[in-house]
Amino acid sequence: MEGMNGMGMPGQGGMGMEGMGGGMGGGGHMHHPVQSTQGSGTTMPTPGPDKRQVILLSEEERNFVLTEMRNFLDSVQGIIGAVAEGKPKDAGPAALRSGMHVMRNAPQSMMGKMPMEFRMLGMDTHQRFAAIAEEASAMADEKKILKQLSEMLSNCGACHQGYRIAVK
Ligand code: HEC
Repeated sequence: MEGMNGMGMPGQGGMGMEGMGGGMGGGGHMHHPVQSTQGSGTTMPTPGPDKRQVILLSEEERNFVLTEMRNFLDSVQGIIGAVAEGKPKDAGPAALRSGMHVMRNAPQSMMGKMPMEFRMLGMDTHQRFAAIAEEASAMADEKKILKQLSEMLSNCGACHQGYRIAVK
């Protein structure tokens, strides 16, 4: 075990390949519980072959989706940050950044390439962000916001378990 702290022994050669291999491919660190919506129960993701369904998109379409995704994460951070600072009203603008309006800018070509379930999950996620924004501008109840957030995050997990994007 002592050797694991590495780096302290310059003579030893090797560039920590072990560490890298473990980090990149290893699996075993992912344990998002997938909730009921997917019907697959709470099974652990198998660390073996990638069984996610592939969605083939153009590069532009993929970039749109991934930008949307990064905004999702920013919104989640903004919501949690606002609640943590005791300013739940500020969760509103953070949530709205991922609200329904985002979908209006989606390339039209994209929709036909996405399975129905994927589109529904995506739409539902935008709707849930919008609902959080509403709560923030109304009662701004912190527990309620966190509960909405938690339920919404299970959408993120469910979709990520099921799908990946490849560029055609
Ligand atoms: C409708 C399906 C779906 C939902 C819902 C969803 N994602 Fe994603 N997300 C994807 C797919 C597909 C990818 C690409 C995965 C791949 O190709 O390996 C992705 C990738 C990402 C990435 C990586 C972006 C990048 O630049 O590579 C982030 C971050 C992310 N999602 C965050 C979220 C968060 C946070 C939520 C929930 C608030 C969420 N996603 C909800 C489908 C979804």
